[in-house]
Amino acid sequence: MNRPDPDTTPDLSAIITDLHDRSNWMNQPDPDTTPQTAQDVSLKVAIIVGSTRPGRKADTVADWIGDLAARRGDASYDVVDIADYALPNFDEPLPPLAGHYSHPHTQRWAATIDSYDAFVFVTPEYNHSTSGALKNAIDFLFAEWNDKAASFVSYGVNGGVRAVEHLRTIMGELKIADVRSAVALSVFDDFQDHTRFAPNAAHEQNVETMLDELIAWGTALKTVRASAMGK
Ligand SMILES: Cc1cc2nc3c(=O)[nH]c(=O)nc-3n(C[C@H](O)[C@H](O)[C@H](O)COP(=O)(O)O)c2cc1C
Repeated sequence: MNRPDPDTTPDLSAIITDLHDRSNWMNQPDPDTTPQTAQDVSLKVAIIVGSTRPGRKADTVADWIGDLAARRGDASYDVVDIADYALPNFDEPLPPLAGHYSHPHTQRWAATIDSYDAFVFVTPEYNHSTSGALKNAIDFLFAEWNDKAASFVSYGVNGGVRAVEHLRTIMGELKIADVRSAVALSVFDDFQDHTRFAPNAAHEQNVETMLDELIAWGTALKTVRASAMGK
């Protein structure tokens, strides 16, 4: 049986002391990277309207999320409507991974997404997936999505959950960390006569839980991006 040789085995108490000193050192705020004001630590969250259909539900749902989020006071939340960017079907000559965007519509969309730390994707379910418009808008960019956090609010006959499952697969390729909790709305139960939005009150707690997770991961990933930039 192998036994540690006391002459060559490091002193455990010395290691613990060393680790303790290191952890204290690591907990000291670094004046170069520590935010100086409350504004510096605030995350910017985009609530992305994932349908461009005339008469869509996505904008109403996004506004509802925006109103609930604004009450929290823990981040700045904006509704970002992909319809405002008039993106054609993907028309860049190079893959977004190359980081060279030739068209003004791509550059404008890239500047917007680049300015956010985290995303709430509001998505309908179209043919058991997300909308073509949202997939197209996502496809236009790469680096602007990387190392950020995302969550989902979906709606459909079964809560739009199949759209979310497809989006989760896409998130991995874009280096977006998607949180577990989501909000799934029913076009039957949460829309009167399939049109007027009247969400079940229980969804409000789901929104809070989802945003708690989004802010936690969004904050963590902001430090990941900051340390990557420092290299
Ligand atoms: C092209 C298309 C496909 C759809 N496919 C599904 C589907 O697979 N599952 C579902 O639950 N609802 C489906 N629906 C219903 C939509 O979820 C519903 O119409 C929703 O309001 C669409 O979102 P929007 O109003 O924001 O565009 C589909 C609707 C469209 C227009």
